[in-house]
Amino acid sequence: MKKFTDVHDIGPLDAAVAEALAVKADRFAFTHLGRHRTLLMIFFNSSLRTRLSTQKAAMNLGMNVMVLDVNQGAWKLETERGVIMDGDKAEHLLEAIPVMGSYCDVIGVRSFAGLKDKAEDYEERVINQFIRYSGLPVFSMEAATRHPLQSFADLITIEEHKTVERPKVVLSWAPHPKALPQAVPNSFAEWMNATDYDFVITHPHGYELAPEFVGKARVEYDQLKALEGADFVYAKNWSAYADPNYGRVLSADRSWTIDAAKMGVTNNAFFMHCLPVRRGMIVTDDVIESERSLVIPEAANREISAQVVLKRILESL
Ligand code: CP
Repeated sequence: MKKFTDVHDIGPLDAAVAEALAVKADRFAFTHLGRHRTLLMIFFNSSLRTRLSTQKAAMNLGMNVMVLDVNQGAWKLETERGVIMDGDKAEHLLEAIPVMGSYCDVIGVRSFAGLKDKAEDYEERVINQFIRYSGLPVFSMEAATRHPLQSFADLITIEEHKTVERPKVVLSWAPHPKALPQAVPNSFAEWMNATDYDFVITHPHGYELAPEFVGKARVEYDQLKALEGADFVYAKNWSAYADPNYGRVLSADRSWTIDAAKMGVTNNAFFMHCLPVRRGMIVTDDVIESERSLVIPEAANREISAQVVLKRILESL
Protein backbone atom coordinates (compact mmCIF):
# COMPACT_ATOMS: atom_id res chain seq x y z
CA MET A 1 0.00 0.00 0.00
CA LYS A 2 1.56 3.31 -1.07
CA LYS A 3 -1.11 5.63 0.27
CA PHE A 4 -4.14 5.48 2.52
CA THR A 5 -6.49 8.41 2.17
CA ASP A 6 -9.87 6.81 1.41
CA VAL A 7 -11.81 3.55 1.45
CA HIS A 8 -10.61 2.54 -2.01
CA ASP A 9 -7.01 2.27 -0.78
CA ILE A 10 -7.81 -0.59 1.61
CA GLY A 11 -9.27 -2.98 -0.99
CA PRO A 12 -12.03 -5.51 -0.15
CA LEU A 13 -13.48 -4.68 3.27
CA ASP A 14 -14.07 -8.28 4.34
CA ALA A 15 -10.36 -9.01 3.89
CA ALA A 16 -9.41 -5.81 5.72
CA VAL A 17 -11.65 -6.65 8.68
CA ALA A 18 -10.34 -10.24 8.79
CA GLU A 19 -6.78 -8.89 8.84
CA ALA A 20 -7.73 -6.43 11.59
CA LEU A 21 -9.16 -9.20 13.76
CA ALA A 22 -6.01 -11.28 13.21
CA VAL A 23 -3.80 -8.32 14.16
CA LYS A 24 -5.97 -7.71 17.23
CA ALA A 25 -5.59 -11.33 18.31
CA ASP A 26 -1.78 -11.12 18.11
CA ARG A 27 -0.60 -7.54 17.74
CA PHE A 28 3.11 -8.38 18.11
CA ALA A 29 3.23 -11.03 15.36
CA PHE A 30 4.71 -8.60 12.83
CA THR A 31 7.31 -6.79 14.94
CA HIS A 32 10.02 -7.65 12.40
CA LEU A 33 8.30 -5.60 9.66
CA GLY A 34 9.15 -2.23 11.19
CA ARG A 35 12.75 -2.95 12.16
CA HIS A 36 14.93 0.01 11.13
CA ARG A 37 11.89 1.78 9.67
CA THR A 38 10.81 5.23 10.86
CA LEU A 39 7.33 6.72 10.93
CA LEU A 40 6.97 10.51 10.97
CA MET A 41 3.59 11.71 12.23
CA ILE A 42 2.89 15.32 11.27
CA PHE A 43 0.10 17.18 13.04
CA PHE A 44 -1.26 20.48 11.77
CA ASN A 45 -4.15 20.04 14.27
CA SER A 46 -4.69 18.70 17.78
CA SER A 47 -5.22 15.02 18.55
CA LEU A 48 -5.47 12.57 21.44
CA ARG A 49 -6.60 9.26 19.94
CA THR A 50 -4.91 9.47 16.56
CA ARG A 51 -1.58 10.46 18.04
CA LEU A 52 -1.51 7.71 20.68
CA SER A 53 -3.14 4.89 18.73
CA THR A 54 -1.03 5.38 15.62
CA GLN A 55 2.17 5.62 17.63
CA LYS A 56 1.20 2.45 19.54
CA ALA A 57 0.41 0.65 16.27
CA ALA A 58 3.80 1.63 14.85
CA MET A 59 5.58 0.46 18.01
CA ASN A 60 3.69 -2.87 17.85
CA LEU A 61 5.24 -3.27 14.39
CA GLY A 62 8.74 -2.47 15.67
CA MET A 63 8.95 0.98 14.06
CA ASN A 64 10.73 4.08 15.32
CA VAL A 65 8.34 7.01 15.60
CA MET A 66 8.85 10.77 15.36
CA VAL A 67 6.02 13.26 15.99
CA LEU A 68 6.00 16.83 14.71
CA ASP A 69 3.40 19.34 15.86
CA VAL A 70 3.73 21.87 13.08
CA ASN A 71 2.10 24.66 15.06
CA GLN A 72 4.08 24.08 18.26
CA GLY A 73 7.81 24.51 17.86
CA ALA A 74 8.26 24.12 14.10
CA TRP A 75 8.50 26.96 11.60
CA LYS A 76 5.10 28.15 10.41
CA LEU A 77 4.54 26.59 7.00
CA GLU A 78 3.27 28.28 3.85
CA THR A 79 1.11 25.92 1.76
CA GLU A 80 0.26 28.16 -1.22
CA ARG A 81 2.63 28.28 -4.18
CA GLY A 82 3.39 31.65 -5.77
CA VAL A 83 2.93 33.79 -2.67
CA ILE A 84 5.38 36.45 -1.48
CA MET A 85 6.40 35.07 1.89
CA ASP A 86 6.64 38.38 3.75
CA GLY A 87 4.33 37.33 6.62
CA ASP A 88 4.76 35.07 9.63
CA LYS A 89 5.33 31.85 7.65
CA ALA A 90 9.06 31.18 7.53
CA GLU A 91 9.18 27.96 5.50
CA HIS A 92 7.37 26.61 2.47
CA LEU A 93 5.77 23.17 2.49
CA LEU A 94 7.54 22.43 -0.81
CA GLU A 95 10.93 22.49 0.95
CA ALA A 96 9.67 21.13 4.26
CA ILE A 97 8.10 17.98 2.74
CA PRO A 98 11.23 16.55 1.05
CA VAL A 99 13.33 17.51 4.07
CA MET A 100 10.96 15.67 6.42
CA GLY A 101 10.83 12.78 3.94
CA SER A 102 14.61 12.43 4.09
CA TYR A 103 14.37 11.47 7.78
CA CYS A 104 11.74 8.72 7.57
CA ASP A 105 10.19 5.85 5.59
CA VAL A 106 6.47 6.52 6.10
CA ILE A 107 4.55 9.75 6.72
CA GLY A 108 1.22 10.22 8.49
CA VAL A 109 -0.47 13.61 8.11
CA ARG A 110 -3.27 15.32 10.02
CA SER A 111 -4.52 18.46 8.28
CA PHE A 112 -8.11 19.56 8.81
CA ALA A 113 -10.31 21.57 6.49
CA GLY A 114 -9.97 25.33 6.93
CA LEU A 115 -13.73 25.66 6.27
CA LYS A 116 -13.19 28.96 4.43
CA ASP A 117 -12.56 27.80 0.85
CA LYS A 118 -14.53 24.71 -0.15
CA ALA A 119 -12.56 24.13 -3.34
CA GLU A 120 -9.26 24.22 -1.48
CA ASP A 121 -10.54 21.86 1.22
CA TYR A 122 -12.12 19.38 -1.18
CA GLU A 123 -9.04 19.17 -3.40
CA GLU A 124 -7.09 18.03 -0.31
CA ARG A 125 -4.23 20.38 -1.05
CA VAL A 126 -2.04 19.62 1.97
CA ILE A 127 -2.05 15.82 2.04
CA ASN A 128 -1.84 15.66 -1.74
CA GLN A 129 1.32 17.76 -1.62
CA PHE A 130 2.82 15.26 0.83
CA ILE A 131 1.90 12.40 -1.53
CA ARG A 132 3.36 14.24 -4.52
CA TYR A 133 6.56 15.69 -3.06
CA SER A 134 7.71 13.28 -0.33
CA GLY A 135 8.26 10.25 -2.56
CA LEU A 136 7.15 8.10 0.40
CA PRO A 137 4.03 6.21 1.45
CA VAL A 138 1.63 8.70 3.04
CA PHE A 139 -1.45 7.98 5.11
CA SER A 140 -4.18 10.25 6.40
CA MET A 141 -4.55 10.85 10.12
CA GLU A 142 -7.62 12.97 9.19
CA ALA A 143 -7.46 15.23 6.21
CA ALA A 144 -9.81 17.94 4.98
CA THR A 145 -12.54 15.66 3.66
CA ARG A 146 -12.00 12.22 5.20
CA HIS A 147 -10.85 10.41 8.35
CA PRO A 148 -10.26 6.88 7.04
CA LEU A 149 -8.40 5.46 10.07
CA GLN A 150 -11.45 6.40 12.15
CA SER A 151 -13.91 4.92 9.66
CA PHE A 152 -11.93 1.68 9.45
CA ALA A 153 -11.99 1.44 13.26
CA ASP A 154 -15.74 2.14 13.18
CA LEU A 155 -16.26 -0.66 10.67
CA ILE A 156 -14.22 -3.11 12.76
CA THR A 157 -16.32 -2.14 15.82
CA ILE A 158 -19.62 -2.66 14.00
CA GLU A 159 -18.46 -6.03 12.65
CA GLU A 160 -17.47 -7.11 16.17
CA HIS A 161 -20.85 -6.15 17.65
CA LYS A 162 -23.46 -6.74 14.96
CA THR A 163 -25.97 -9.53 15.57
CA VAL A 164 -27.57 -9.52 12.12
CA GLU A 165 -25.85 -9.85 8.78
CA ARG A 166 -27.16 -6.52 7.48
CA PRO A 167 -27.54 -4.10 10.41
CA LYS A 168 -29.32 -0.76 10.18
CA VAL A 169 -26.72 1.95 10.77
CA VAL A 170 -27.85 5.56 11.26
CA LEU A 171 -25.51 8.52 11.00
CA SER A 172 -27.16 11.38 12.89
CA TRP A 173 -26.13 15.02 12.90
CA ALA A 174 -26.11 16.42 16.46
CA PRO A 175 -25.55 19.95 17.74
CA HIS A 176 -22.20 21.53 18.57
CA PRO A 177 -21.26 25.14 19.37
CA LYS A 178 -18.37 25.35 16.89
CA ALA A 179 -18.03 24.78 13.16
CA LEU A 180 -16.59 21.31 12.55
CA PRO A 181 -15.36 19.81 9.26
CA GLN A 182 -17.35 17.20 7.34
CA ALA A 183 -14.40 14.76 7.31
CA VAL A 184 -15.74 12.24 9.84
CA PRO A 185 -19.30 12.02 8.46
CA ASN A 186 -18.04 12.04 4.86
CA SER A 187 -15.65 9.23 5.60
CA PHE A 188 -18.12 7.23 7.69
CA ALA A 189 -20.64 7.48 4.85
CA GLU A 190 -18.03 6.44 2.31
CA TRP A 191 -17.13 3.33 4.30
CA MET A 192 -20.74 2.42 5.14
CA ASN A 193 -21.66 2.77 1.46
CA ALA A 194 -18.91 0.28 0.67
CA THR A 195 -20.72 -2.32 2.84
CA ASP A 196 -24.17 -3.78 2.23
CA TYR A 197 -25.54 -2.41 5.52
CA ASP A 198 -28.88 -0.59 5.63
CA PHE A 199 -27.37 2.90 5.91
CA VAL A 200 -29.38 6.04 6.74
CA ILE A 201 -28.21 9.63 7.24
CA THR A 202 -30.31 12.09 9.23
CA HIS A 203 -29.72 15.81 9.69
CA PRO A 204 -31.62 19.10 9.70
CA HIS A 205 -32.24 20.82 6.36
CA GLY A 206 -29.11 22.70 5.27
CA TYR A 207 -26.64 20.08 6.51
CA GLU A 208 -26.62 17.93 3.35
CA LEU A 209 -23.24 16.28 2.78
CA ALA A 210 -21.53 16.28 -0.61
CA PRO A 211 -23.43 13.96 -3.00
CA GLU A 212 -20.33 11.83 -3.65
CA PHE A 213 -20.28 10.91 0.04
CA VAL A 214 -24.04 10.47 0.48
CA GLY A 215 -23.92 7.93 -2.35
CA LYS A 216 -26.59 5.27 -2.03
CA ALA A 217 -27.47 6.18 1.59
CA ARG A 218 -31.07 7.04 2.43
CA VAL A 219 -31.41 10.60 3.74
CA GLU A 220 -34.21 11.12 6.28
CA TYR A 221 -34.81 14.60 7.70
CA ASP A 222 -37.03 13.29 10.53
CA GLN A 223 -34.48 12.11 13.12
CA LEU A 224 -36.92 9.93 15.10
CA LYS A 225 -38.12 8.22 11.95
CA ALA A 226 -34.51 7.60 10.90
CA LEU A 227 -33.64 6.08 14.28
CA GLU A 228 -36.57 3.62 14.31
CA GLY A 229 -35.21 0.07 14.35
CA ALA A 230 -31.58 1.17 14.18
CA ASP A 231 -28.92 -1.32 15.31
CA PHE A 232 -26.16 1.31 15.47
CA VAL A 233 -26.49 5.07 16.02
CA TYR A 234 -23.43 7.06 14.96
CA ALA A 235 -23.72 10.64 16.21
CA LYS A 236 -21.57 13.44 14.83
CA ASN A 237 -21.73 17.14 14.28
CA TRP A 238 -20.65 18.79 11.05
CA SER A 239 -20.89 22.26 9.59
CA ALA A 240 -22.80 23.05 6.42
CA TYR A 241 -21.36 21.82 3.12
CA ALA A 242 -23.75 23.49 0.67
CA ASP A 243 -23.10 26.99 -0.67
CA PRO A 244 -23.47 29.77 0.35
CA ASN A 245 -23.15 28.41 3.91
CA TYR A 246 -20.03 26.24 3.55
CA GLY A 247 -18.32 25.81 6.92
CA ARG A 248 -21.02 27.58 8.92
CA VAL A 249 -23.04 26.54 11.97
CA LEU A 250 -26.68 26.92 10.90
CA SER A 251 -28.20 25.59 14.08
CA ALA A 252 -27.24 24.25 17.50
CA ASP A 253 -30.73 22.83 17.99
CA ARG A 254 -30.51 20.58 21.05
CA SER A 255 -33.67 18.76 20.05
CA TRP A 256 -31.20 16.76 17.88
CA THR A 257 -29.11 15.64 20.88
CA ILE A 258 -29.07 11.84 21.20
CA ASP A 259 -30.86 10.97 24.45
CA ALA A 260 -32.47 7.91 26.03
CA ALA A 261 -35.87 8.63 24.49
CA LYS A 262 -34.34 8.62 21.01
CA MET A 263 -32.35 5.47 21.70
CA GLY A 264 -35.68 4.00 22.87
CA VAL A 265 -37.09 3.89 19.33
CA THR A 266 -34.07 1.93 18.06
CA ASN A 267 -33.55 -1.82 18.06
CA ASN A 268 -31.64 -1.51 21.37
CA ALA A 269 -28.96 0.17 19.28
CA PHE A 270 -25.33 0.60 20.12
CA PHE A 271 -24.24 4.24 20.43
CA MET A 272 -21.11 5.33 18.56
CA HIS A 273 -19.08 8.52 18.32
CA CYS A 274 -15.48 9.05 17.19
CA LEU A 275 -14.61 11.26 20.22
CA PRO A 276 -13.88 13.83 21.48
CA VAL A 277 -17.55 14.39 22.24
CA ARG A 278 -19.39 17.26 23.94
CA ARG A 279 -21.79 15.78 26.48
CA GLY A 280 -25.16 17.53 26.68
CA MET A 281 -24.77 18.72 23.09
CA ILE A 282 -24.12 15.59 21.00
CA VAL A 283 -25.26 12.99 23.54
CA THR A 284 -26.59 12.82 27.07
CA ASP A 285 -24.52 11.37 29.93
CA ASP A 286 -26.80 8.36 30.41
CA VAL A 287 -26.54 7.30 26.76
CA ILE A 288 -22.75 7.62 26.49
CA GLU A 289 -22.30 5.88 29.84
CA SER A 290 -24.77 3.08 29.04
CA GLU A 291 -23.77 -0.52 28.40
CA ARG A 292 -24.75 0.00 24.74
CA SER A 293 -22.15 2.75 24.27
CA LEU A 294 -19.24 1.67 22.07
CA VAL A 295 -17.19 4.84 22.25
CA ILE A 296 -14.32 3.23 24.18
CA PRO A 297 -14.01 0.00 22.13
CA GLU A 298 -14.29 2.18 19.02
CA ALA A 299 -11.37 4.34 20.17
CA ALA A 300 -9.40 1.23 21.13
CA ASN A 301 -9.87 -0.12 17.61
CA ARG A 302 -8.00 2.93 16.29
CA GLU A 303 -4.81 1.10 17.26
CA ILE A 304 -5.94 -1.86 15.14
CA SER A 305 -6.97 0.12 12.06
CA ALA A 306 -3.66 2.01 12.16
CA GLN A 307 -1.72 -1.21 12.58
CA VAL A 308 -3.33 -2.85 9.54
CA VAL A 309 -2.59 0.22 7.42
CA LEU A 310 1.03 0.48 8.63
CA LYS A 311 1.51 -3.28 8.21
CA ARG A 312 0.36 -3.11 4.61
CA ILE A 313 2.59 -0.09 3.95
CA LEU A 314 5.62 -1.83 5.48
CA GLU A 315 4.92 -4.97 3.45
CA SER A 316 5.05 -2.83 0.28
CA LEU A 317 8.38 -1.13 1.01
N1 CP B 1 -11.29 10.49 16.80
C1 CP B 1 -10.11 11.15 16.69
O1 CP B 1 -9.52 11.25 15.61
O2 CP B 1 -9.65 11.63 17.87
P1 CP B 1 -8.44 12.68 18.01
O3 CP B 1 -8.88 13.94 17.29
O4 CP B 1 -8.25 12.87 19.47
O5 CP B 1 -7.23 12.11 17.33
